[in-house]
Amino acid sequence: MITGTTRLYAIIGDPIAHVRTPMAFNDWFASRKIDAVCLPIHIGRDDLPRGWAGLKSMVNLDGFIVTAPHKGEARQLCDAVEGDGVHTGVVNTVRREKNGRFVGTLLDGRGFVRGLQNEGHKVEGRRFYLAGAGGAGTALAYALAGSGAAALTLHNRTRAKAEKLAAGVKAAFPACDVRLGSANASGHDVAVNATSLGLEPTDGHSFDLGSVDRDALVAEVVMKPDMTPLLIAAKARGHKIHFGIHMLNSQLALMMQFLGLEPTREGA
Ligand SMILES: NC(=O)c1ccc[n+]([C@@H]2O[C@H](COP(=O)([O-])OP(=O)(O)OC[C@H]3O[C@@H](n4cnc5c(N)ncnc54)[C@H](OP(=O)(O)O)[C@@H]3O)[C@@H](O)[C@H]2O)c1
Repeated sequence: MITGTTRLYAIIGDPIAHVRTPMAFNDWFASRKIDAVCLPIHIGRDDLPRGWAGLKSMVNLDGFIVTAPHKGEARQLCDAVEGDGVHTGVVNTVRREKNGRFVGTLLDGRGFVRGLQNEGHKVEGRRFYLAGAGGAGTALAYALAGSGAAALTLHNRTRAKAEKLAAGVKAAFPACDVRLGSANASGHDVAVNATSLGLEPTDGHSFDLGSVDRDALVAEVVMKPDMTPLLIAAKARGHKIHFGIHMLNSQLALMMQFLGLEPTREGA
């Protein structure tokens, strides 16, 4: 039951009706008997500064999730930024500190990393091929390099974006062997599609599946359908496959940790 002591959490975005965070958070609160609620808050595309001031003024609001189109502007409005939010220029999770400051981070890429680990796939020391340098590709690139990937080969339809991303990741994580690649994904332990290709059954692949090493894992960020054309073809070729939904599911625990609602697990 919502009472006067119930703590508030939220997700902000425009549109907002499609979001699933309130269900995930509220189930999580209920299962742990935590006196908190998560609400969808629709803040118009051009109205974030005014909405932000409103969120700041709500002293029983302890944190919120940020979705499109606000992730970049939210990063600018945060009082401090941590983790992958620093390099990527976007945040998707914001918590209120005791002093009232809003601290943001980006957990998309870390969710992908955690999803791989939860499914038994090591990240540290592995060689990754990553197609896509948009929002998801950028988040994954920093998170993989920041989680100890030995090598990261980046490929994107618009090469200039891959070049910029490679330069940024290299500067942030010099221990990772970051290179620009082509559609040829050979010589890697994991090949990842982080483009929006795969949403439609007629979509092609973002890289040459035939070039992928036989024992390599083929991974997706696209969540719907769960079996994208890439994963169907990869499975038929005998590859191990990894679904896009793992990235989202694994983010929930990371969000709760960042919001101070769950103890941090070693290596998080
Ligand atoms: N599983 C999760 O938790 C999760 C989280 C976030 C996003 N996603 C999914 O990730 C996908 C990408 O999202 P995003 O935010 O990165 O989108 P985005 O920022 O718009 O980037 C789209 C990416 O796809 C590439 N692309 C689009 N059409 C292409 C085509 N016809 N051929 C080759 N490349 C193409 C773009 O290349 P250019 O740069 O050349 O345009 C760019 O790299 C979406 O399906 C989204 O639902 C999943």
